[in-house]
Amino acid sequence: MTVLVVSNQKGGVGKTTTAISLGAAMAERGQRILIVDLDPQANATSGLGVSKERANGIYGVLMRERPLAEAVVPTDVRGLDLVPSGPEMTGAEVELVPVMAREYRLRLLTVNALAAGDAVVVPVQCEYYALEGLAQLLDTIEAVRARLNEKLEVLAIVLTMEDRRNRLSMQVIDEVRRHFPKLVTHARIPRTVRLAEAPSHGKPISVYDPHSRAAKAYAELARELTTRLKAREPIALSGAIA
Ligand SMILES: Nc1ncnc2c1ncn2[C@@H]1O[C@H](COP(=O)(O)OP(=O)(O)OP(=O)(O)O)[C@@H](O)[C@H]1O
Ligand SMILES: [Mg+2]
Repeated sequence: MTVLVVSNQKGGVGKTTTAISLGAAMAERGQRILIVDLDPQANATSGLGVSKERANGIYGVLMRERPLAEAVVPTDVRGLDLVPSGPEMTGAEVELVPVMAREYRLRLLTVNALAAGDAVVVPVQCEYYALEGLAQLLDTIEAVRARLNEKLEVLAIVLTMEDRRNRLSMQVIDEVRRHFPKLVTHARIPRTVRLAEAPSHGKPISVYDPHSRAAKAYAELARELTTRLKAREPIALSGAIA
């Protein structure tokens, strides 16, 4: 089992969309995928058509030591399962660190995910401040590697919301590639309204609109990341979370 963490401290860059779409695309390649939603916003949960108001999601696993297996729910995609999140996870951060500074608290769930992970997938939106957020994330990853989880690595940077007609978008792509030539994937995710619509139907893009450019881009990303994962030593010999 390999634990991938989809992370970027910057908001609205396509983390949730990438987790859902990549998870579904990998499941469709025949891999068994479990998406673990840690976000109190629970967008990955609702985006996969599962209610946020379920009682027995990730909160029970983390805070009440309930078995992970009992929190797993199936999705419409064969091979793709979910451990849902919900609004009670806002409380989890508070319960876990009652005395910590607020900034640290807000980052705690991210740090938890990185501590349990093998490899990080970083969605980067093709817009002006893209690199700024990236430097912060790489600092956090370095700190987690030094103190909590030395096996953690960055697997890929995925450029999201690409707009080929926008010169700035293309300049950002060039710049991110120049800084991280090995990490940036060949597959880039186009900006398309179909990806923004899919969550309100509770479906991943591969089900909502399988022939769309976005579905093809995420299928290509799944292929590319599968190759990258195979090319290195088996990252995790035993489950990190389970
Ligand atoms: N490639 C895309 N094309 C068009 N819209 C997109 C694309 N990717 C994501 N979106 C939309 O942009 C918004 C932000 O995306 P998403 O929720 O995936 O980002 P996020 O990084 O998870 O945000 P947050 O930091 O709030 O958790 C959503 O409304 C989503 O539907
Ligand atoms: Mg999100």
